[in-house]
Amino acid sequence: MTDHESAGAAEAGRPGTAVRRFPFAPSPRPECAPDPGPGPDDPFAELREHDPVHLVELPFGGRARLVTRYEDVRTVLADPRFSRTAASRPDAPRFEPVPPPPVGVFVSDPPEHTRLRSLVAKAFTKRRVEAMRPGVRASVQTLIGRMKAAGPPADFVPDFALPLPVAVICDLFGIPEEDRASFRQWCDGLLSTTSMTEEEIHASRRALFGYLSSLVAERRRKPADDLLSGLVRAHVAEDRLTEEELVVFSGGLLVAGYETSASQLANFTCLLLRTPDLWKQLGARPESVGTAVEELLRHVPSLEIGGFTRVATEDVELGGVLVRAGETLVPVLGSANHDPAVFDAPHRLDLERTPNPHIAFGYGPHRCVGAQLARVELQEAFRALPQACPELRIAAEPRRKTGTIIHGLASLPVSW
Ligand code: HEM
Repeated sequence: MTDHESAGAAEAGRPGTAVRRFPFAPSPRPECAPDPGPGPDDPFAELREHDPVHLVELPFGGRARLVTRYEDVRTVLADPRFSRTAASRPDAPRFEPVPPPPVGVFVSDPPEHTRLRSLVAKAFTKRRVEAMRPGVRASVQTLIGRMKAAGPPADFVPDFALPLPVAVICDLFGIPEEDRASFRQWCDGLLSTTSMTEEEIHASRRALFGYLSSLVAERRRKPADDLLSGLVRAHVAEDRLTEEELVVFSGGLLVAGYETSASQLANFTCLLLRTPDLWKQLGARPESVGTAVEELLRHVPSLEIGGFTRVATEDVELGGVLVRAGETLVPVLGSANHDPAVFDAPHRLDLERTPNPHIAFGYGPHRCVGAQLARVELQEAFRALPQACPELRIAAEPRRKTGTIIHGLASLPVSW
């Protein structure tokens, strides 16, 4: 942050002072700097210290407050006085040109949220996800084998980071191999902030939901042993999901299940390859991959937008500020995960950090339902890659994604 901006950080929100637009540009690049220190690379350091509930302008629909301290972020995520439903209404300030679909686990509050979530949580218990580990391990080996056989150079994003989570989530849903490429394209429409026009977003949503409706109809005729058939059964037998809920819910899960994991696979690889000792360290100690993955999750934020908004349903005191009923808040997960009140030397990437109470998967009722699955994918990838490809290196400047909710790379050229 420049001097001018940091002064602005403390001042903004007072009458007569400018309110900055969020996400800040250029946004931080933690995947490229493992130890940037608490300086200009952390745009939230100043805010955490002096202005922890900071007023900003969102790209669409008005103002919101950035919540940057760990404890305050957890409060916003877990306290029922902060509502996801209210934050998803068409007139609420937001990052995307188009409001989110009005139903589904992402945009509901308890008790509606509890009903929806219980339907899917069963598929993602630790035990069930562990049962998927051998399949994930096999997919990792196949992708490494293919990448090596095609010979250097490679682009790590389309050659490894994208196909691994797509294979895992599509297997879980029973999405046929031949439909997976279009599926990826449609998903982008659910995550775009400014990379697509309003019309393009509507078109890809229609395509994805249309496709899922036909898949649902097929599973109704001919149930299979997959997650989608389970959701269809819940819809038919217990009348617990409406048709619209079923389709939007499946779409949301599919998208959430691949794009975040894919982005973090590429972000983490980029970060580790920028510091070859870390790649070697992981290769030499595959048994410590679990701890290393937790630290990578803490260190590299997965969302370009900081966190999904909430709206206060009543006046609440937060971080010494009176938040008024109706105000929108952005719980900035990446900032919480670098809060020095909780993490020693928070800007240091320490692959052996314990304890590590990061909230990269959120906190409270909406915490990530796929966290165990994401962990299995990341652990299997980073157990195998540094051993199978010890000489992997960045071959050309990576290209970042822009105009989307997720913080990630469009391209990561590698060689060996
Ligand atoms: C590295 C990968 C991942 C990260 C960093 C991540 C992060 C998150 C975060 C921070 C939330 C909480 C949002 C909030 O409270 O506002 C969340 C929710 C969610 N995630 Fe993930 N996620 C990942 C992978 C996955 C996977 C693999 C799946 C599914 C297969 C998944 C499905 C979901 C769903 C359905 C929710 C909504 C839960 C609810 O609202 O109750 N995520 N995720």
